[in-house]
Amino acid sequence: MTQIDTIFAGKLDHVEDFKFDAKVTAVFSNMIRRSVPGYELVTAMTAVFATGFFQPGTAVYDLGCSLGETSRAIAEAMSEHNPLIYAVDSSPDMTAKCRENLAGFPNVHVATADVCQLKFEPASIIVCNYLIQFIPEMERDNLFKKIFDALVPGGLLLVSDKINADKQENNPKFVRIYHLWKQIYGNYSPLEIKQKREALEAVQKPESKLSLFKRLENAGFATPELWFQSLNFASVAAFKL
Ligand SMILES: C[S@@+](CC[C@H](N)C(=O)[O-])C[C@H]1O[C@@H](n2cnc3c(N)ncnc32)[C@H](O)[C@@H]1O
Repeated sequence: MTQIDTIFAGKLDHVEDFKFDAKVTAVFSNMIRRSVPGYELVTAMTAVFATGFFQPGTAVYDLGCSLGETSRAIAEAMSEHNPLIYAVDSSPDMTAKCRENLAGFPNVHVATADVCQLKFEPASIIVCNYLIQFIPEMERDNLFKKIFDALVPGGLLLVSDKINADKQENNPKFVRIYHLWKQIYGNYSPLEIKQKREALEAVQKPESKLSLFKRLENAGFATPELWFQSLNFASVAAFKL
């Protein structure tokens, strides 16, 4: 049963830094749908990309898998290929629940680990959906380089993430519209939106698309392409040529 996210609904005396702990895990499925415009579409399309570019004999990685929704979508879309999928997350609360959710998919291996420390097997699909914003900025280049090295030729990295506007002066306008979206369609109150924003401030560091593309190009991805954007959330496909 999906629990409704009310974590920031009441007035908090002190807003603590956001953590992917047991409290967040319990409501995460509801929280992410009310917080990321296009989440369900992106999850479904990620599975379509994975189906299109998977190469037999290689692995699929779902990095920052949370409850395993992306891994499940990929496993379901590709059931006749039975791909080996590694679903990785650093939060033990998330991976415990993810393991439970994906118990019916023996080809999905759930691991609790920091993706920055991961030793990759040769892969044709690596997914980072809404993860990079939580990776320390100084570790992002190394992670993308490791991902590039792990991909076989023709392999695909899919990154969806919260972004800042490319033109800095536009950012406050997009943030305002994003908060309005959370209010109107996410049914979050202005207090919830404000307190969650404060909680995320120290741990969530979005970058612009320009900066993301530069990191991908520096890692070796010659032709990263935007395939979806809704407000300040963007999805990029980067092939290893
Ligand atoms: C916004 S959620 C990702 C949502 C998920 N990919 C989906 O599409 O449902 C971010 C996840 O990244 C995980 N995370 C953050 N830093 C990480 C790291 N260094 N290594 C592994 N997982 C990390 C968090 O625990 C959290 O579950």
